[in-house]
Amino acid sequence: MEVVPLDSADEVAALAADTIEAAVRAQPGTVLGLATGSTPLATYQELIRRHRAGGGPSYDDVRCFTLDEYVGLPPGHPESYRATIARELTDPLGIAAERVHGPDPAEADLPSAGERYEAELRAAGGVDLQLLGIGSDGHLAFNEPGSSLGSLTRIKTLTDRTRRDNARFFGSVDDVPRHVLTQGLGTILRARHLLLLATGAGKAEALAAAVEGPVSASCPASVLQLHPHVSVLVDPPAASGL
Ligand code: GLP
Repeated sequence: MEVVPLDSADEVAALAADTIEAAVRAQPGTVLGLATGSTPLATYQELIRRHRAGGGPSYDDVRCFTLDEYVGLPPGHPESYRATIARELTDPLGIAAERVHGPDPAEADLPSAGERYEAELRAAGGVDLQLLGIGSDGHLAFNEPGSSLGSLTRIKTLTDRTRRDNARFFGSVDDVPRHVLTQGLGTILRARHLLLLATGAGKAEALAAAVEGPVSASCPASVLQLHPHVSVLVDPPAASGL
């Protein structure tokens, strides 16, 4: 695991954007794994800024896979991760909607939605570069503490803490869904390069546990220690526990 301390959240976003652009330029048909949440937003805005300025790579043949999705929101809800990633990244970059995949919460048979998503990921040849944030409780995607380190895409129940953390997107904690479909930790570990971004003091404790603590389901992000190619970009407040 390579931990890269940077001077500011802006530097995290700039280096993350460089890394994503390099992956897209490296080969035709790059498969990008995308994350939602507040942390990657600055990176996405930087990619869009460069794209509009004419300096970015072509995204025409990129395929994207999101990490997770809420279950139970009405179709097209603006806080669904499908709508969020389209608004925040893929639409502005001109990536066609059919090239953006996510776990499908509208499946009649939800338990098999996970298996179908795993099959889609395999058919695409796996993820080349997976962007990740970290939850304040150490979760990755929506793998809450206690998640099996080898888990695959499946339904999970959110903890109260994560629902409170995400209430800012919904107006009230009562409106945050209780269930999600999420890539498992085992799914995430199959990506060829993992790029974890952590900014702000609220991530310091979880980041220290993930990077320096024991590998344990009580801190799901500690599973990254088992992967051969992980880059962790951190700003000073997030690095303060290291
Ligand atoms: C969310 C998402 C994760 C994200 C994490 C941190 O609940 N499911 O993919 O990395 O929590 O979010 P944020 O970046 O908003 O702090």
